[in-house]
Parts: sequence; C-alpha cells; structure tokens
Amino acid sequence: MAIEVEECPVGLSAVAVSDTHGEESPYFAGWKVYVEDPYDHVKNPSGVIQMGLAENQVSFDLLEQYLEEHPEASRWGSNNSSFRNNALFQDYHGLNIFREAMASFMEQIRGRRGKLDPDRIVLTAGATAANELLTFILADAGDALLVPTPYYPGFDRDLRWRTNVKIIPVHCNSKNNFQITVKALENAYQEAVAMNINIRGLLITNPSNPLGTTIQKSALEEILDFVTQKNIHLISDEIYSGSVFSSSEFTSIAEILKSQNNENSERVHIVYSLSKDLGLPGFRVGAIYSYNDKVVTTARRMSSFSLVSSLTQHLLASMLSDTEFTEKYIRTNRERLRKRHESIIKGLRDAGIECLEGNAGLFCWMNLSPFLEERTREGELGLWNSILHEVKLNISPGSSFHCCEPGWFRVCFANMSQNTLEVALRRIYKFMEKRKRMQ
Ligand SMILES: Cc1ncc(COP(=O)(O)O)c(C=O)c1O
Repeated sequence: MAIEVEECPVGLSAVAVSDTHGEESPYFAGWKVYVEDPYDHVKNPSGVIQMGLAENQVSFDLLEQYLEEHPEASRWGSNNSSFRNNALFQDYHGLNIFREAMASFMEQIRGRRGKLDPDRIVLTAGATAANELLTFILADAGDALLVPTPYYPGFDRDLRWRTNVKIIPVHCNSKNNFQITVKALENAYQEAVAMNINIRGLLITNPSNPLGTTIQKSALEEILDFVTQKNIHLISDEIYSGSVFSSSEFTSIAEILKSQNNENSERVHIVYSLSKDLGLPGFRVGAIYSYNDKVVTTARRMSSFSLVSSLTQHLLASMLSDTEFTEKYIRTNRERLRKRHESIIKGLRDAGIECLEGNAGLFCWMNLSPFLEERTREGELGLWNSILHEVKLNISPGSSFHCCEPGWFRVCFANMSQNTLEVALRRIYKFMEKRKRMQ
C-alpha cells in the first residue's frame, strides 16, 4: 500500500523531502494506472497493457529449462558445509567463481574481442546501485555529470537524489537520429561553466535506453577524446549490450580502450547488470568494471550498502560458467528480440507510425510528432493521456526522458507475450484510424 505523506510534523532530512528522485514524472504515473487496471486476456481483456516497462521475458523458458536440467545450481547438494559456507559468506568481494563467470559472460557478449579482469569487477545490487555508487565516488555534492538526452528517467533518481549531484543534459535531436556529437557535448559543458558548475564526468548509455540504438565506434572515439581533453570521467552504462540484435553492431568502450593500448583508461568505468540481457531484474545483480584502481577499491568498500546475496551468486555462477548454455542463450535471445522488434515496427508502420531505426534493446522510439495537436510538451502529454486512458496502453512520453523535441514515445515490446503485443498493435491501429476519420 502506498503511503501518502502530506505534512510531516517532525523534521526529516533534506534528502527525504527533496523531489530530485523524479518519481512525479508521467513515466511512473503511467505504471500506477496500469497497476490499478492490468490487462489480462481472460480476466481483464479491456485493461491497460504495460508497454512502459523495459523488461525482457522473451527468453525466460531457456532459464527455466537450464534450472530443470541443472537442479544443483539452485541447491546446496548433499554437502552441509556448502550451505554453511554460503550462508555465512558476506565478503564484499563477492564469490570468486561468480566474478569470473560475470567477466566471462561480459566478454562473450562483446564477441570475445577483449579480456576483462575479474578483479576489476565490483558487484552491486543492480545497475541502479552501480550508477549511484560511481556518482558518489566521482563527484561531490553540487558538481554535475553530463548526460545525453533522451535518457533513462531513473538516472534522475540514481545520479542526483541521494548524492546531491546535478545532471546537465546534453541535448541531442532527431536531425542526426539523436546521435551524440562533440558540438552538443561542448555546448552543455560551456553552459555548466557559465553557471559555475563543476563537471566531473559524462555518462553515456550504449546501447541507448530509450533510443534502442548503439553508439558508433567513431562517436565513441570522439567521446573518449572529449573526456580526456576536459579531464573528466566517462561512465558507460552498457546494461543492454547483450540485447543488440547482432553482436557485430555493438562496440563497447572497452574495445576502444584496447585499440588505444588502454591509454586514458583510468577515467573510464563500465556499468553492467543482468536485469535486461538475462531478464533477471528481481535478482538485483549489477557490476562496475573500472580501469581505475582507486575507484575499484572505493567502490568495493561502498558496495557493502548494496551487496548481492550469496544464494543468487551461487546460482548464477553455475549458470554463467556453463558457456554452452550462455552461447545458446545469447544467440537465441538476440534472435527473439530482433523478431519482436520487426513485428512491432511493422505493426506500427501499418498504423501509419514511424520509429527511429533501432538495432538493440527492449523498446522502440516512436515518432508521434506529426499527430500532436500542438508541438509542445503539453501537446505530447495530451496525446499520452489519450493513449493511456482511451487506448489503454501505458507507453512513456519523451519528455520523461528529457527529450528536447515533443512527440516521441518509448514503447516496450519484450515484457509481454506475442499475443498481447498483437492486441496492443490492433488497439493502436484502431486509434489511428479513428483519428484519421476525425481529421
Ligand atoms: C540505462 C539503464 N541503466 C540502469 C537501469 C537499472 O537497472 P537495474 O535493474 O540493474 O538496477 C536501467 C533499467 O531500466 C536502465 O535502462
């Protein structure tokens, strides 16, 4: 039950009363509407379909099959000392076998084009904790991080709320498919300088949430040059790196560093998690991979606040070190996501809607700007409201991703069955037909 706090007679901390968590945004408001009236094809066929949740359920059967075939992964075996060791284990380094398995899985996703050192991996309770923890380490209260728009709304909470660090948006636009340019970075940087704000780093998301696109190699090289020239940090959130439809289309910042003999690598930190590629957000498993020794040591100490349970590590160590399973999983998962993506793009196109061309992720970036009554944030939210309450689809408006152009929406497609996706597409089709008739 949600508790509404109106006026609190006893004083609370500045963090507690601050609204920098960003949860008042339509991104979260849509979830609430869904929770009150969730679609079910039998029990509630006219309910709201959740298309605002970047969750991957398309390969869940493969995980279930693995657990059926490997019951030892989720059991302690007959050996009592194994239970004892795991139950008592609480070292913030994490289980060695799990960190090794994570490093190997991350290498595999990156096409084994470079080695990752398990000792540089710091385990955290999801990428949420990893991003906050890095912000605490790289910046002081009042400093800022540059973040290209549109960006994941959770960053408002993760980077700002408890750290008191600011976000300076780097505005990217549809003229070049929202790609990050040095000009946009420089503009944002100069804007911060003019406001006397100290920029400590840049956070990129590759592949991007919400765009569903990867950052090109040449753009990554420019980004690395930019942070080196400004002497600031670079966080690369690569949480969707295994959800690129074809592995050859993804370049990790790790590969760029390797090609430059790891020069300037001490300013680079990669964030990863098993929430998306493996579809396990409930397990809360994330990681920081930092090239900076001091950051690794500090992050490890700080990870005491957000450790991963040894039970979870035990299960996943077994699953991820089975490379035959992981290879099949990664391949099948990519293929299924690609098919889902194709099917939603086609369905939307049939309804007269175009999306940004994507090659990754659990969502597409849909352009409804031609259908806005007025090309403003209010116009966008008006259309979002109709889609939520009349069409009964929870999609996320671009303004909640800080997109500077009204009319873009993120639509998730991997958190539901193919049948539900088809119901959603039929609803959109009908809505668009009705609008055409009204014009
Ligand atoms: C770009 C990005 N970073 C971080 C997260 C948080 O992930 P986790 O569930 O691992 O905390 C998300 C979740 O949607 C995300 O999209």
